Amino acid sequence: MGTGDIYEPEYVAALFDRCSSSYRWWSAVASFGMIRRWRKVCVNSLPAETNAKGEFVDLMAGTGEVWPHLTHRFPDLREIRAIDISKRMHEEAVKQLHANRSNRISHVKANVLEVDLVKHSADCVVSTFGLKTFNTEQQARIAVQVSRILKPGGTFSFIEASDPKSWMLRPLYRFYMDYCLPLVERLVLKGAQDFSMIGAYTLNFESCNEFADALAAEGLEVNFYKDFFGCATGVYGVKPTVASAQSL
Ligand SMILES: C[S@@+](CC[C@H](N)C(=O)[O-])C[C@H]1O[C@@H](n2cnc3c(N)ncnc32)[C@H](O)[C@@H]1O
Repeated sequence: MGTGDIYEPEYVAALFDRCSSSYRWWSAVASFGMIRRWRKVCVNSLPAETNAKGEFVDLMAGTGEVWPHLTHRFPDLREIRAIDISKRMHEEAVKQLHANRSNRISHVKANVLEVDLVKHSADCVVSTFGLKTFNTEQQARIAVQVSRILKPGGTFSFIEASDPKSWMLRPLYRFYMDYCLPLVERLVLKGAQDFSMIGAYTLNFESCNEFADALAAEGLEVNFYKDFFGCATGVYGVKPTVASAQSL
């Protein structure tokens, strides 16, 4: 398979369909628990002006792992609209709904690159570990979506596993991602090589830098950060109101 094919939405959806039943525990174990910390970092990065009682959109929501962090920080949020292309990841998410959250979560099974989400309908857009399976051109299209669906004054935060280019221990990290994880996966998951793709996606993705530029090109105020030597990077910010944009 050529490298271009791994960014085809149908290919990605099928990959996550296959991963869905073990996604939660595998991602927690393979990241030594860091993934949970990083989701919290993503939610805590949301600017203070986030409308705590508003409409939240979770892009590439998967099994809904970020929802407990969202409802913890914003107990009065009105709704979380969860968008994901994988039917099975949706089904796993539905299984996970807790009684006190289910009435506030709606699911949309859709390709984020094409779905016609209502303009200016979201107070806040979040996404955890959903960017790496998109190439640069696709990331630019997601930036257009984010800018379109956010209300003026709305906020956003994204985090993604990244390639820690300047970290002294990067060779060790790459050895773990490129050799150890695929080996463990083949042994534990009976020859499967689905999660091993994460290494390739992360290597190609590099960091949230390009996505930050794409969001800025859409007129959003963007902040970029690195966490744990660049093993994760994130972006957060605000869609300016007309008044604040004019005063720039
Ligand atoms: C690595 S998982 C992240 C899930 C979750 N946000 C988390 O923190 O664990 C990436 C998710 O992105 C979804 N996805 C990939 N491409 C998509 C697309 N084009 N449109 C919508 N969802 C997509 C996959 O189905 C998968 O559930």
